Amino acid sequence: MKLIVAVCEDWGIGAKGDQPFYIPEDLQRFKSMTMGKVVVMGRVTLAALPKGPLKGRVNVVLTRDADFAAGGAVVCNSLQGLMQCLSQYDAENIFVIGGQQIYELLLDYCDTAYVTKIFATVPTDRGFPNLDAMGNWQLHSQSEIKGHQGLKFCYCEYKNNAPYSK
Ligand SMILES: NC(=O)c1ccc[n+]([C@@H]2O[C@H](COP(=O)([O-])OP(=O)(O)OC[C@H]3O[C@@H](n4cnc5c(N)ncnc54)[C@H](OP(=O)(O)O)[C@@H]3O)[C@@H](O)[C@H]2O)c1
Repeated sequence: MKLIVAVCEDWGIGAKGDQPFYIPEDLQRFKSMTMGKVVVMGRVTLAALPKGPLKGRVNVVLTRDADFAAGGAVVCNSLQGLMQCLSQYDAENIFVIGGQQIYELLLDYCDTAYVTKIFATVPTDRGFPNLDAMGNWQLHSQSEIKGHQGLKFCYCEYKNNAPYSK
């Protein structure tokens, strides 16, 4: 299982239910990396998707609400239920896409983290664990610094040397 996230310099990822930045090149990369794959998200992140579940992907949504339904999405009500659901897919094709609660829940199950680092800090109310401070996560590769309308960013890939198996 892998995760994909965009973080600010302080590892902030969200504010008031939305993402702090939208960088077209990063969105395109997210789309091409997840297309045809399984994306796992929390109910709050699903609510922020302007067009609902992501097209061309198996959308798996976590909520404790047993009556929750979202057209086109598979709904799981617990970590155990999620793992049961995900067992039918190749772990290589599963991407955790947020938000904070779901990243925290599944971080230890992920072997790879694709982190877009945005070199800016804005007020956020949702964050992601600082992988640079976690002994089991190592920076594997980092792209050159890119730019969009004055905003600098780069793509980092981290590897977890001790992921849980699902
Ligand atoms: N920068 C990025 O790359 C990125 C990516 C994605 C999201 N975000 C941001 O992150 C923020 C959302 O994060 P969030 O932490 O507030 O919400 P979230 O992780 O998207 O969803 C949280 C919800 O997931 C459900 N949930 C959590 N643990 C569960 C469990 N063990 N079993 C069943 N359901 C469970 C609950 O739904 P119920 O309340 O329905 O029970 C909970 O309210 C937004 O600001 C969003 O824009 C940023």
